[in-house]
Amino acid sequence: MDNRSRPIGVFDSGIGGLTVLRALIATLPGEDFIYLGDTARLPYGTKSKEVISRYSRENSEFLLAKGIKMLVVACNTSSAVALTEISRLTIVPVIGVIEPGASAAVKASRSGKIGVIGTEATIASGAYTRAIQALRPRAEIYTRACPLLVPLVEEGWTDNDIAERTVAFYLESLRQSGIDTLLLGCTHYPLLRGLFERVLGTRVSIVDSAAATAAAVSRRLGELNLRRARSNGSQSFFVTESPDRFVRVGRRFIGDRVESAVRIDR
Ligand code: DGL
Repeated sequence: MDNRSRPIGVFDSGIGGLTVLRALIATLPGEDFIYLGDTARLPYGTKSKEVISRYSRENSEFLLAKGIKMLVVACNTSSAVALTEISRLTIVPVIGVIEPGASAAVKASRSGKIGVIGTEATIASGAYTRAIQALRPRAEIYTRACPLLVPLVEEGWTDNDIAERTVAFYLESLRQSGIDTLLLGCTHYPLLRGLFERVLGTRVSIVDSAAATAAAVSRRLGELNLRRARSNGSQSFFVTESPDRFVRVGRRFIGDRVESAVRIDR
């Protein structure tokens, strides 16, 4: 098989990575994608580094066995904690969301005061802070774990009073620090973009690592001459638990592109 015709593998702890897949499809409509959501074992954001690394390795091995040409780690928590380890498993290029997100935030920020939000494990890892400081050593970075936002989004509560008050509570310290850019360091947060804008006002730029990652994947495919020149790519979905819920909740993230999902054993 010509390497260009191979699919791209994408994994996440569950459903949220569909925001990254959505951005990938918009940027690379000709590619075939195989998506794995580890729905049996989510959330990753509250787990230890060892457990997140093991799950991330297993997800990667499943996708690598499908003959993929590139692996995209859509989960911010896996990217923050296990990207180096995953990269050691294979010669296939591996792209996570941290560096593209950090680079987009650095570009968007004029003052260098950047807020980063994510799961507990992502924030505790310091991965976004290191990636931003590598690009802009004098940046002032303010971080906040927002564990309640993932269940709110999965419940479909992205624009009600409870969601707004929760977002306002989490963002208060960042707002007071005078950030001019907020980096959304979790797969689910793009669905709360409207609330972030409302709470922080129009002077704060909101940067979504999903869009930045899709651009990075596109660039890398071009550099490696692996891009597929056609327009009608496909998507297939695998989950480790509850395909029905994945399809139902997944529609909020990516519309009716997700018609069915195959359950694999873990
Ligand atoms: N996908 C995870 C992330 O982007 C959020 C959900 C979870 O904690 O598993 O960090």
